[in-house]
Amino acid sequence: MKTIFSGIQPSGILTLGNYLGAMKHFVPLQEEFNCYYCIVDQHAITVPQDPAVLKQNIRRLAALYLAVGLDPNKVTLFIQSEVPAHSKLGWIMLCTSYLGELERMTQFKDKSDGRGESIPGGLLAYPPLMAADILLYDTDFVPVGEDQKQHLELTRDLANRFNSRYGEVFKIPEIRLPETGARIMSLQEGTKKMSKSDSNQGGFISMLDDADTITKKIKRAQTDSDSSVRFDKEAKPAVSNLMTIYSLCAGKTLEEIEAMYEGKGYGAFKSELAEVVVETLRPIQERYEQLFHSSELDDILSDGARKANEAANRMLHKVEQVMGMARV
Ligand code: TYM
Repeated sequence: MKTIFSGIQPSGILTLGNYLGAMKHFVPLQEEFNCYYCIVDQHAITVPQDPAVLKQNIRRLAALYLAVGLDPNKVTLFIQSEVPAHSKLGWIMLCTSYLGELERMTQFKDKSDGRGESIPGGLLAYPPLMAADILLYDTDFVPVGEDQKQHLELTRDLANRFNSRYGEVFKIPEIRLPETGARIMSLQEGTKKMSKSDSNQGGFISMLDDADTITKKIKRAQTDSDSSVRFDKEAKPAVSNLMTIYSLCAGKTLEEIEAMYEGKGYGAFKSELAEVVVETLRPIQERYEQLFHSSELDDILSDGARKANEAANRMLHKVEQVMGMARV
């Protein structure tokens, strides 16, 4: 059976972008693959986090993973910091990396912009840790949104570099981008991705927003200058983004949506889009509420950490052996 690995940061409440670009696709994969899904708390601390908020966000993310439909009997769901092999291999991957290639990462450049001398070292070391996450599990495929493409390419480079020094230890993983929704854009700026760390609350829909908030955000969403509901990413980025969201939530093609709103303008389109999004998130939110407070959630995470530790320690031992670090 082939293996899937993916991770999400508990750095805020997940957005509709996280759901449509990544999480939604994790669910059908559990039927066919050996899946590891991780709450990457060590990635989240590359920027300062409030301890109480981080703690809550870790639990929220665990509950959301299950609420979208992941079955703990089929997948291994775990918290990164509960599997120490991640930071150990992360260090080895950092030592395998070149400063130049780390400084070239777009996410590093974006996140370090304007911080002067105070750029946290973790931001630079972030992609080698991500490479370690993936390489520990003999991963075949990594389902992610488009913003992670560069990190995946670096992971492959580091794995190849390590293999050429020490022999064929790592499997070279492949990225799996969704056909649509790989990059959901901000509702306020059609050229910026929807992000949970956006200071403009109107730019993103959180997976836990209530119906009123979702409706307000969609009604206020940016549109394009003409009033037709037509898909054209270049000329009409804002409406095309809303149509992508509609399509993924309602399971309708872009052509079907264009036909439904021909001659109707943005008003009807936006209010029906709001309903479609509310109905997509409603059952997830209901399951989330039950799971968040359940002790079952702790059992699932403990079991996940046990299974992940077993697999990860096996790989880490192999790595340390070929490098001359393991005594046996
Ligand atoms: P993170 O937590 O920023 O995002 C989690 C997943 O959501 C996708 N995503 C989006 N997809 C479409 N449109 C958007 N606007 C959007 N915003 C986010 C991301 O591409 C991602 O798939 N570095 C990773 C976490 C990570 C990881 C890993 C992923 C750590 N180790 C190993 C895969 C494998 C991150 O920051 O994702």
